[in-house]
Amino acid sequence: MDSFIKNLPKVELHLHIEGTLEPELMFELAKRNNIDIPFDSPDQVRQAYQFHNLQSFLDIYYQGANVLIHEQDFYDLTWAYLLKCQQDNVIHTEIFFDPQTHTERGIEFETVIAGITRALKQADQELGISSQLIMCFLRHLDEESAFTTLSKALPYKKHIIGVGLDSSEVGHPPEKFQRVFQEALNHGFLSVAHAGEEGSAQNIRDAIEMLGVTRIDHGVRCSEDPELVAELVAHRMPLTVCPLSNTKLKVFETMQQHNIIELLRKGVCVTINSDDPAYFGGYMNDNFLAVAHAHEITKQELAQFSINAIEASFISPHAKEDMITQVRHYLANH
Ligand code: HPA
Ligand code: ZN
Repeated sequence: MDSFIKNLPKVELHLHIEGTLEPELMFELAKRNNIDIPFDSPDQVRQAYQFHNLQSFLDIYYQGANVLIHEQDFYDLTWAYLLKCQQDNVIHTEIFFDPQTHTERGIEFETVIAGITRALKQADQELGISSQLIMCFLRHLDEESAFTTLSKALPYKKHIIGVGLDSSEVGHPPEKFQRVFQEALNHGFLSVAHAGEEGSAQNIRDAIEMLGVTRIDHGVRCSEDPELVAELVAHRMPLTVCPLSNTKLKVFETMQQHNIIELLRKGVCVTINSDDPAYFGGYMNDNFLAVAHAHEITKQELAQFSINAIEASFISPHAKEDMITQVRHYLANH
């Protein structure tokens, strides 16, 4: 089963590029950019990654991003992640970035996007990995800051397929960003939002109704509302679930208690993703393996996660067909 998982073609839909900053690269960039970090070694950084909820993670995660200054830093960060994709047989990835984490520190939007897109283009050409880019608004910041960020993104619209919403969910409901999402939709961006991770099932309903989302990021707390689950099934509304993230941030105490398999068997379009792999202990293969080791699951169900992700991705119908054929072929031969 482990080798079936490792070689299965996969598509990632929930990945924060800032969350791929491995402690070794953090140290290298801190040195290169002359930035003080409150750790003596990469191992000491890893030991600090003990989280008890979302906020305890976010505090460390935003601090880590301080070492990212130059275009080359964003390139190095993104390229390192794409090499992990190659190792894990990820054939397509849709990447979040948080512009406000950088513009608030005086880094230009242009610097961030130039570094990331240079790596993405190279991965397409040299590794055969396709990608899309999604810009997230930080929900702990105000609506005005989100509007400013949207206007900064307009000159780079051809590089950005959609907008998303991340950071602290509780206390910052979808409603707060209804107008800026409407404006983004008017400009032709697609939309997604983190909802039902730490926040209630109502946030999932509101993200769908108020923010016009075509996917929900996390969404695991939908189980608290059986009618909502039925609606997610009926509308094939995808959930980008992140199993290792959910256990590290105590959304579920153990992987055995995780509801992803139950949701899959109810017919929800659930997918497996890594969220912030440098902080949560693993990339795509590790997330698939963690689920498969904690639950009785068939190869067909594992392949269904890939097929769901392809269906939920922001690529052309033709590209989807090609990828689904790859997965079906793999399943038939393994
Ligand atoms: N939830 C909210 N904000 C985030 C996350 C997450 O899982 N990862 C990075 N920012
Ligand atoms: Zn996330």
